[in-house]
Formats: sequence, structure tokens, C-alpha cells
Amino acid sequence: MTAFITGTGKTKFGVLSESLSQLLQKAVDECLENAGRTINDVDAVYLANFLGGPQESQLHLNALFSSIYGFEKPALRVEAACASGAVALNQGIAALQKFDRVLVVGVEKLSGTDSKTASSSIAMAGGRILDQQNGIIFPAAYALLAQQHFLRYGSSIDDLTLISLKNHANANLNPKAHFYSKNVTREMIEQSPLVSTPLRLFDCSPISDGAAAVLLEKDAGRARARVSASQLRTDTISLIERNDLTSFKAVRQAAAAAYAEAGITPADVDLAEVHDCFTIAELVAYEDLGFASAGEGKQLVRSHATELNGALPVNTDGGLKADGHPIGATGVAQAVELTLQLSREAGKRQVDGAKTGLCHNVGGIGGTAAIQVLEAVE
Ligand code: COA
Repeated sequence: MTAFITGTGKTKFGVLSESLSQLLQKAVDECLENAGRTINDVDAVYLANFLGGPQESQLHLNALFSSIYGFEKPALRVEAACASGAVALNQGIAALQKFDRVLVVGVEKLSGTDSKTASSSIAMAGGRILDQQNGIIFPAAYALLAQQHFLRYGSSIDDLTLISLKNHANANLNPKAHFYSKNVTREMIEQSPLVSTPLRLFDCSPISDGAAAVLLEKDAGRARARVSASQLRTDTISLIERNDLTSFKAVRQAAAAAYAEAGITPADVDLAEVHDCFTIAELVAYEDLGFASAGEGKQLVRSHATELNGALPVNTDGGLKADGHPIGATGVAQAVELTLQLSREAGKRQVDGAKTGLCHNVGGIGGTAAIQVLEAVE
């Protein structure tokens, strides 16, 4: 595969005043400027978005893109729930077979409605009959995962608290993070409201707005990172259709294929961006990605290995938990963070000497899994 990332752009994530169009434009303008390109240099656009319809009454976003930029070449909206961003990346990378330069942008505007409406919209990523009509909205689904994981493997709420603390600490070093200026303590986490047993407020990703963009090029000339693997797998839409509630099969399959494609093993990964929509999802990701064996993810947490100065830093930007989760933008933002890290532009949260990064973006309750491996370029 020949795919290089030559430019990145990202808005601040959070509850923002800007519209969906304004967020999109901000991330794209920053990305093109960063790459030293203009929109005329772009051959095709893959635009990730999940809830433009229910939240903003705006779909047909490829045409919206054309209205903003006067773009008349191929443009496509990509939707795969919370994995929309990484699936757009996967499709954009594949499109380099045909095009020289492909822009991938993810955008979401989730604030502006009340939490109940936003939760109902997000629940559309689960099965309508088996999940939504039985009350399995997202915090409840991931709470089931946590309960099963605790029971089977002896992991605990303390492990999840450490993950939340880590990701909030990382976000304090990231001015674009949703919770950049929120200093979070163990007491705050432990005393926060229960959302769905055992998950509390600080185990959940927030409702965020934001956009992120990367420019992909076939030519290495302006490369800031190289994509060495991009894999996509799918599974059933509902948890109820699964045999195992402590692991995501689609992630394990995508990871195995990505390691084979990149010619590496999990031990070669220097840092990772993982899909911590709820803290338990980060713990499960450690195991599904092969950073730890089944049930042993808790040892990575307890040994502080995934903290910024640990052997395998995870979610250096704060992750979905604290950088935020503007759904369509999330998978693209993960690639932005890895590119910044691999090109040594990550400022106060820079990981020294990182050469190989992995990003992992999950749709729904593991129904879609997209994994990219990025390498530093000399
Ligand atoms: N973590 C930490 N603090 C949070 C937070 C979170 N996830 N979500 C909201 N807050 C804070 C707000 O900043 C606000 O703080 P302030 O009073 O100091 O300003 C306070 O909590 C209340 O915010 P509000 O927006 O009213 O929260 P809420 O109770 O309506 O919503 C959740 C909280 C957890 C229910 C909501 O964030 C949620 O549904 N998250 C999950 C989203 C999701 O499912 N995404 C898809 C995953 S696959």
C-alpha cells in the first residue's frame, strides 16, 4: 500500500457555538494549509458523519461540501456509526489506487439538543428491535461488558478509574481537547453520578462537537506519516446476538489483519489511539489488540504502562473520554494525533522516539472495527 498523510487539521472538540458547516470548513482549511495544498489539488473527498440527519436535519453532506468549496470532483459521505471516521480513512486510502490526493474529513454536531434526544440518536448505532426497544442504550451496553469482564477476569472499577484519570491527565496537555481545562481527581470520578452500574459519569465519553481532517497522498514528497495498514471488519449489530460480552470479534480480526499487513506484532506498537467511548472499552481494546492476553489488560493499567511516560502510551490526546467524541470526527482525529506524534509535533504530550502507532475505532457495540497502522517517515 502506498499512502502518506501530508496534512492534518482539527477543530477544538467540545460543546461549541459553530455550525456543522463551519466546523467542517475549519478542519479542512487547517489541513490543506498544513499540507501546503489547496482544494484544487484534491482529487476526491470522503466525508464521515453519523448523525447529521437526526441531530441537524442535514444529510447529503457531499453536496454540502461542494457548496462550501465549489468542489465538483467525487465526494462521498461515509457512515458507520462511531467508526465513521476510520471507515472513511479506510475508503480514502483504498481510493489512492485511483487518485493522487484524497481528503478525508469527519464532522459531527451533537450539542444543541437535550441529552435525551442525543442519546436516542446515538442509540441508532445499535439494533432497533433487540437493543433500542429493550432499553439497551449505549451506557447500558458497555455497563454489561464491564459487569461481565469484572466477573470473569477480576478486573474492577478501580482499573476503570485509572483509565479515566490517565485520559483526563493527557487531555490537560491538549488545548483542543473537550476537557482541556478540567482538572479531574480520583474523588471526582468516584463521587460522580452513576450512569449505568458500574459506569459513572467519568467512565463515559461526552457529547461533543468537532471536526478533523487528513490529506492522503500517493506521493511521499510531503509525507508526515506513512500508512502501513488499514483494515475493516464487521460483526452483528446487537450485543444480544454475540456469544462473548468481554471481547469484540471484529476488532480481533481487524487487528490480526492489520498486523499481518504492516508486517509487525503488537509488541512493535509504540503508541496507540483506542476507542474508549467508555473506560471499559479501553480495557477490552488492550486485550483485543493483543497488547495483553484476555483478562490481563488490567495489568497494563495497574503497572501504569499506558500512561504518557509508560512503555505503551495510549490515548495521548485524552481519548474519546477527555479529548471528546464528536462521532464522525473521532476516527479521523485519532489519525491526526498519531501523525502529530510520529512527526514530533505533539508539543507537551510528545512521546519520545515513537515510530509505529496504531489507531482503533469501533462502531456501535463492536459492529464495526477499523484499524490503521501509521509509521514515522525519516
Ligand atoms: N465526563 C465528564 N464530565 C461530563 C461528561 C463526561 N462524559 N458529560 C458531561 N459532563 C459534565 C459536563 O461538562 C457538565 O459539567 P459542568 O456542570 O461542570 O458544566 C456536567 O457533566 C453536566 O453535563 P450534561 O451535558 O448535562 O451531562 P448529561 O448528564 O446530560 O450527560 C452523559 C452525561 C454521560 C449521559 C452523556 O455525556 C452521554 O450520554 N455520554 C455517552 C455518549 C455516547 O454514548 N457516545 C457514543 C459511545 S459509543
